[in-house]
Amino acid sequence: MAITPLTNLENLTTIFSQINLTRRQQKYLTDFIIRYNKKNQKSKELAQANRSVLADNKTFIDFHLPLKELFYPLVTQQSFGSKIRDIDGNEYIDLVMGFGVNLFGHNPPFIKEAILEQLNKGIQLGSQPEFIGEVANLISELTRTKRVAFSNTGTEAVMTAIRLARTVTGRNKIVIFSNSYHGHFDGTLGKAKTIDNQLQTVAISPGTPSNYLQDILVLEYGSDRALQLIKEYRQELAAVLVEPVQTSQLNLQPKAFLQQLRQITKDSKIALIFDEMVTGFRIHPGGAQAWFEIEADIVTYGKIVGGGLPIGIIAGKAEYLDAIDGGMWNYGDLSSPQVITTFFAGTYCKHPLAIASAKAVLEHLKTQGATLQQELNERTSKFIDALNAYFEREQLPLYMTNFGSVFGPVSLDNDYEEDDEEYSELSLVFALLYYHLLFKGVMLRGNGGFLSTAHTEEALNYILQAVRESISELREGEFLS
Ligand SMILES: Cc1ncc(COP(=O)(O)O)c(C=O)c1O
Repeated sequence: MAITPLTNLENLTTIFSQINLTRRQQKYLTDFIIRYNKKNQKSKELAQANRSVLADNKTFIDFHLPLKELFYPLVTQQSFGSKIRDIDGNEYIDLVMGFGVNLFGHNPPFIKEAILEQLNKGIQLGSQPEFIGEVANLISELTRTKRVAFSNTGTEAVMTAIRLARTVTGRNKIVIFSNSYHGHFDGTLGKAKTIDNQLQTVAISPGTPSNYLQDILVLEYGSDRALQLIKEYRQELAAVLVEPVQTSQLNLQPKAFLQQLRQITKDSKIALIFDEMVTGFRIHPGGAQAWFEIEADIVTYGKIVGGGLPIGIIAGKAEYLDAIDGGMWNYGDLSSPQVITTFFAGTYCKHPLAIASAKAVLEHLKTQGATLQQELNERTSKFIDALNAYFEREQLPLYMTNFGSVFGPVSLDNDYEEDDEEYSELSLVFALLYYHLLFKGVMLRGNGGFLSTAHTEEALNYILQAVRESISELREGEFLS
């Protein structure tokens, strides 16, 4: 069923009148919606055609009623280097980069060849993939972890890390920090809330029963109070789970806090779990552990290391990883698995395609050495500096930050107890900026993104130009002063 890009302008006017847009704003927005819809018509048609059957919440930007005609995912067909092409034939400089997966850009030949080679050999699940030992050794070498296990996603890796910590320590409570994200396992989907003057952990959304969270303490990231509470609860804590630099608060890079946390957890035999899904292999070949000079007990990885195929890694000290298989033993003597194990499984764990792809990624990282990350980190910092200089010159209420090659806005809302989302004029403007950049061929992840080694200077200059033009158009439309 073909639909016209914009079915009824009258409905738009009704919606606009509900949120007090000026006449100039209404006219500008209507024109922009028409232009945008024309450019991405096939994607919009598919969104409408699929909606009744496809339950899909994946968006980079929240739903805003006045922008509902812009609210559809771009359907993409092809990707190469830093670019992505949609089904209408538009090209975008991609800054989503697979949510941080594509460190080397899209479809790099060395990964593609490794996957194709394995594909030709077949997909053998249930037996041992040929390269599993090499991949485990490469991870161990680059991240200085002793033992390595494989899952399919980051969420699974975190879930397993928590289970290992509980098994080995014999304790149940886990500390996580406000504003962190550890995937979609119920056991980490909690937030802090004061109820009747008491700090409690409540589910972030319906469907997670409170008993999943009764052993979760959500503390304020980077605060002395958090360290103090960890000391107070030390005899009950199995683990402190930390995203060393949170994607949602990149400006908070608390080295001293993390070092103190290491000391406290070490003294109390609490497992320190670094969730390095984003920082791993990105900030440094050895991830945040190497960057902050801290050795965690368990570290979880994913994203980059799978080269685009689903993977999760649980790595760390033998003391914890031994709970997966009973620990080290040898043939030809009297040794046998000695350690009590916990449950660990997954049909697709050690998937041969993901392992072949990971081998290609890790070999590339090893050959390139830390200069790969250093250069990319520096280029990202320069790019963010240029953006901030422009925002400052133009007196815009925006300030960006980066941790290596991941960047995002400085969080103005470092609230410990996260507020429920509220409609605000500023969030509408940010959403509009996002759509303007898309219109100009720049695809962001919300307000931030990732740079890859495939992003050229030319691409970065193009993005800066697109930002300048978008801001000036938003001013024209009276959405910015
Ligand atoms: C820090 C962190 N932990 C865990 C996860 C979950 O990983 P996955 O989406 O592979 O399950 C993510 C995903 O973005 C993440 O950023």
